Amino acid sequence: MTENDIYAAPELYDLLSTGVPGDVEYFSKLAKQHKRVLELACGTGRITLPMAQAGAKVTGIELRESMLDAAARKLESETPAVQKRVDLYQGDMRSFDLGKTYPLVVIPFRAFQHLIDVKDQRACLECCRDHLTRQGRLVINLFDPNLRILAANLEVNATAVRKVGEVDVGDGERVVAYSTRTSCPEEQRFEEEWIYERFAADGRSLWRQARKFSLRWFGRYEMEHLFELCGLEVEKLEGGFKGQPYQHGGEQIWTVKKA
Ligand SMILES: C[S@@+](CC[C@H](N)C(=O)[O-])C[C@H]1O[C@@H](n2cnc3c(N)ncnc32)[C@H](O)[C@@H]1O
Repeated sequence: MTENDIYAAPELYDLLSTGVPGDVEYFSKLAKQHKRVLELACGTGRITLPMAQAGAKVTGIELRESMLDAAARKLESETPAVQKRVDLYQGDMRSFDLGKTYPLVVIPFRAFQHLIDVKDQRACLECCRDHLTRQGRLVINLFDPNLRILAANLEVNATAVRKVGEVDVGDGERVVAYSTRTSCPEEQRFEEEWIYERFAADGRSLWRQARKFSLRWFGRYEMEHLFELCGLEVEKLEGGFKGQPYQHGGEQIWTVKKA
């Protein structure tokens, strides 16, 4: 992680990184059923707070202080009951030891895909396994690599620009984001640069910032092998947050338990 990565600017991240459709409802329902949850890479609390609002006691771990501070600020405007149910810690999902186990551990919204190296992926899954109760479940959401999109990324030159989105930020001002993607198929990884630009009501550019991140992609059988290597057994693989079957190019939503 560097100073110009996307997580150094949580207010920009929150503007356009709104998750996968249905993920908040899915994780909130699971959290309510399991009552106690450990969320890894909790970011600014997009999933953490709704899980606590649903009645679960939630422990969130996040690497970036800036993201964690943003989550803590959001938590301040929750009711005292919700505030009491949330504990936030700065930590690394590859090496944490909370000294307790949880009936539910979750890694929403592709956070696991920030772990580029196999040794980091294994370290994370082993930590997850050690923090699960005997009947506990680990739920991880990844995107399924879409071969058409990957192939197109190899064909176009790396400077091809895609509009990510545009948000009205009040007083007629707008933030617009564009991205470029550079793929490295040998490492099953791509790097994206997002350019955020803020415009005044009269169209003048007020500022512009570039932010980067890298993601690793995982085939479904690679994940099955990783889980097995780390002492975890697959219970189910869903293809969407409404229980859709797994389909190429959609979501991978894994539910696994201790083997
Ligand atoms: C895509 S965001 C997801 C944030 C949040 N879970 C959500 O759904 O909005 C990925 C998060 O993973 C965090 N992260 C990346 N590597 C991490 C690590 N090794 N340990 C803990 N958090 C990490 C980033 O700082 C970022 O907040």
